Amino acid sequence: MVTEAGKRVQEFYNKTPFPDYELERFKTKEDLRIAAYPFAEILDRSIPENASIIDVGTGTGQLSAFLSLRRKCVWGIDFSDGSLSKARKLKEQLKLKSWTLKKVDLLDTEQIEAIGRKFDYVLCMGVLHHTGYTHQGFENILRLLKPGGYIGVGLYNTYGRIPLQIRKFLAKTIFKNNNILNNTIKDWFIRMQIGNIEDKERARGWWSDQYLHPYETTHSVGEVLKWFKGNQIDFYQTVPSSTLFDDTSLETAGVWNTTSQKYPSFLARICKQIAWIWQTHQEGGYWITFGKKKI
Ligand SMILES: C[S@@+](CC[C@H](N)C(=O)[O-])C[C@H]1O[C@@H](n2cnc3c(N)ncnc32)[C@H](O)[C@@H]1O
Repeated sequence: MVTEAGKRVQEFYNKTPFPDYELERFKTKEDLRIAAYPFAEILDRSIPENASIIDVGTGTGQLSAFLSLRRKCVWGIDFSDGSLSKARKLKEQLKLKSWTLKKVDLLDTEQIEAIGRKFDYVLCMGVLHHTGYTHQGFENILRLLKPGGYIGVGLYNTYGRIPLQIRKFLAKTIFKNNNILNNTIKDWFIRMQIGNIEDKERARGWWSDQYLHPYETTHSVGEVLKWFKGNQIDFYQTVPSSTLFDDTSLETAGVWNTTSQKYPSFLARICKQIAWIWQTHQEGGYWITFGKKKI
């Protein structure tokens, strides 16, 4: 059964699927390839072609659809019919045969088990912090990971999200009653996060997701390390880095790579997360942790 927070989140994404895009933009597979964001390209290069992938909380599936272009088995699961409907149209339009879509509530263990198979890679980007049961959700999605398989989890950081929370407060209060100011500020805030607002669908989707969301929580690196430890997951790295004096770019380090980052000490985590207030403020304090399940 979907939780109370879950119902609100499901309703929200049924009305405002994320990431939003015009289906007409993707007439060919090449269009999807060209539209891929740098992070998606890095992931694509880091995951072998013969690996199976599941993207949990895939939304409208822009990432999983892209990853399926070079692979035989990529799944995208989500509990929002609105988002999945757009993803299904994209699948049909581009005839993406290796991309499987399924409606699944990640908090429902029976639905997770009903998938009936495990994957080499489990991705869960920007999802768990909307569930209300982040830790339980994390343990549930691990059921989908093969021993020796890789995981990437993207969450809002407790420190890094502070500037966005301030912007959100300003948008809801001071700027709300002045239409001209409100629209200018709104464009500025969105531009800050996604660069340009020419793609209206995308800009609207981001505004809703970041400023009008009914439910979100924030998390610390220490919390995720605890989940990893408790579930036999070896820590690989965080993006941005949580190792002191390490600013190796993701492109150089590769995604599942242990060589550039050390297991972050308490001191390193505190220093780095305080720095994230500035460093990740444009992304709304979003960070990703990568790891590998022990065999
Ligand atoms: C911010 S969107 C992220 C979409 C995509 N992962 C991305 O990074 O572009 C969050 C997605 O998580 C899904 N979601 C939230 N709670 C969920 C749950 N309990 N089970 C399955 N999907 C869920 C929402 O429907 C939504 O599509």
